[in-house]
Amino acid sequence: MKRVKFPGVVDTITVDDPGLIRTLSEDSRIDRVFKHAPLWNGSFLKRLIRTLSYRGGRFPHLLPRGYAGRRSRQDELWELFSKRAAWMAGGPEELEDLSRWIKGERPLEEPGILVQQVIGLFWSDQYKATAESWEAAVTLNIAARSRNLLKMIWWKITGKVSRAKRLLGAMAGNDIVFLHGTAIALHNMVASVGKMKQMYADEALRFSIKAERAVELSLSPPPVVFRQAISAGEVSGCPFAKFSMFQFKLSDAYKLTGVKDVIFMSDSWSRCPAERWVPAVLAGIWRRACK
Ligand code: HEM
Repeated sequence: MKRVKFPGVVDTITVDDPGLIRTLSEDSRIDRVFKHAPLWNGSFLKRLIRTLSYRGGRFPHLLPRGYAGRRSRQDELWELFSKRAAWMAGGPEELEDLSRWIKGERPLEEPGILVQQVIGLFWSDQYKATAESWEAAVTLNIAARSRNLLKMIWWKITGKVSRAKRLLGAMAGNDIVFLHGTAIALHNMVASVGKMKQMYADEALRFSIKAERAVELSLSPPPVVFRQAISAGEVSGCPFAKFSMFQFKLSDAYKLTGVKDVIFMSDSWSRCPAERWVPAVLAGIWRRACK
């Protein structure tokens, strides 16, 4: 755990230990309320929330734990995703393009459109991902994380981010969870599919590992998720103030320790509703490619 603090300007605590991430995420003083303070943290959080809000609502992975309807929507979605998992794990036809991509039979450099299409189809059989919709997802992801203020000001002036959100929002029928899946959550899956392609290219690996192992080796957690203290306190000898910002470095935590529950924050109130569906899709892609 590392804290960077300049009173009134910055107060950020970075954590990459899975045990501590678990403890902090269960602490009721630490949440996703996100007040705009102190100065630097405040401007970062303001931009994050502004970028990842749509029609007045925040994307689901930024909502406070007690936000009305969050929990029931998460449970409902978990059920829906999990019900489809066994089907996806069998490698159905809808994974054909992605399995061809990992075999190198598709010319696309990255599989973004194909992943967006698979997530889009989960909600609507009319969904049609395009180069433009993938580009919009890339724009939103960069805008949410970028520290390049000049570029962000330019994007604001030119309306690039709002246009990206409008396009993806309309394609998602203005459903903010659907929008989150096709704009932000998909990037984790794109990273996983990229790793699968590398594994498939290695003939020794291709013929020796089973789908479950290929999934384990390819899963990628989000690089970082955010929290903020709603009151002062102390955890494991580290004091924090009201509004201290926490960065849980999930990707580093996973790389350093291999502890799997950080991938989807499975033991937490914020667990990913797609925690069974995503591995099933990856297993399906691998099985179909190795047929
Ligand atoms: C490799 C793929 C994915 C990984 C590794 C992943 C991981 C995560 C993690 C770690 C969280 C917790 C965030 C936090 O604690 O603040 C989360 C939340 C969430 N994820 Fe995923 N995710 C993936 C794909 C998806 C997909 C495809 C969807 C939907 C289409 C999705 C929907 C959500 C939602 C709605 C939440 C917010 C849950 C809540 O707190 O209410 N995720 N995801």
